[in-house]
Amino acid sequence: MKPENKTQAFKFFLLGISEDSSLQPFLFGLFLFMYLVTVLGNLLIILATITDPRLHTPMYLFLSNLSFADICFTSTSIPKMLVNIHTQSKVIPYKGCITQVSFFIVFGVLDNFLLAVMAYDRLVAICHPLQYMVIMNCRLCGSLVLGCWITSALNSLLQTLMALRLSFCADVEIPHFMCELYQLVLLACSDTFANDVVIYFAAMLLVVGPLAGILYSYAKIVSAIRAISSARGKYKAFSTCVSHLSVVSLFYCTVLGVYLSSSVTQNSQATVRASVMYSMVTPMLNPFIYSLRNKDIVRGLRRLFRAKP
Ligand SMILES: *[C@@H]1O[C@H](CO)[C@@H](O)[C@H](O)[C@H]1NC(C)=O
Repeated sequence: MKPENKTQAFKFFLLGISEDSSLQPFLFGLFLFMYLVTVLGNLLIILATITDPRLHTPMYLFLSNLSFADICFTSTSIPKMLVNIHTQSKVIPYKGCITQVSFFIVFGVLDNFLLAVMAYDRLVAICHPLQYMVIMNCRLCGSLVLGCWITSALNSLLQTLMALRLSFCADVEIPHFMCELYQLVLLACSDTFANDVVIYFAAMLLVVGPLAGILYSYAKIVSAIRAISSARGKYKAFSTCVSHLSVVSLFYCTVLGVYLSSSVTQNSQATVRASVMYSMVTPMLNPFIYSLRNKDIVRGLRRLFRAKP
């Protein structure tokens, strides 16, 4: 296994968000705070959903799966970043780097799929309200969630195996606070054509596919809502989608923003700062978006805190 030996001879470094040493305590505090809020907020959503039988509906089961995915998603990168800031070290072991890459892909893609499944759930609820419970039965929900998990895991396995083939000819300095597949491919010195092809097709299938599904669902939802005659009925139907629509817009706008900013500016630091948005801010805000406007979740949370041990 020559490439493996070659790779392990070199060190991997995460350059982080800023090299400015006076900024480090502030960054540490900020990211620790954001991480704790993310874990706590999403954990509360999961606990509220589990403990309140009235929240055992497809929408909230999908939501608590999304919360779980968000906790895992942030946990792949933030704790390591905090440790590195705290110990003033930039080193990450090769195995750690590959692990970050693979889990980041699993949970990123899973988020994406769950948002699409939730859009389908809203489509059924608004376009076929009478058959909703029949169509979205336990078996379908279970299979949808399982399908999301399996697809994300298989894709990540493929991408990780491809990434393991890369070899590096010098110390690897990743201008980011986590190991990202794209950066590894850029910094590799072996031929990366096959990796580029696999990444490109996976992105087309697994990101554009669910996004198309979401857009299709909302096109149907909008036309169904327009067909409702009473203003009150319109508002009621629409209000059940607002939270989901906000989360979807936040997720895709931040990803698109990062993509556009990286193609407009050559400044990789700016891109990394923008990627804080989708890797930290979106998962942090999801529980708030869902609970602030939502009477069911608020009731579930009250119940959670009133529950006697
Ligand atoms: C995820 O969804 C499945 C199927 O709807 C449900 O049974 C399960 O409890 C959910 N998991 C979490 C962590 O909420």
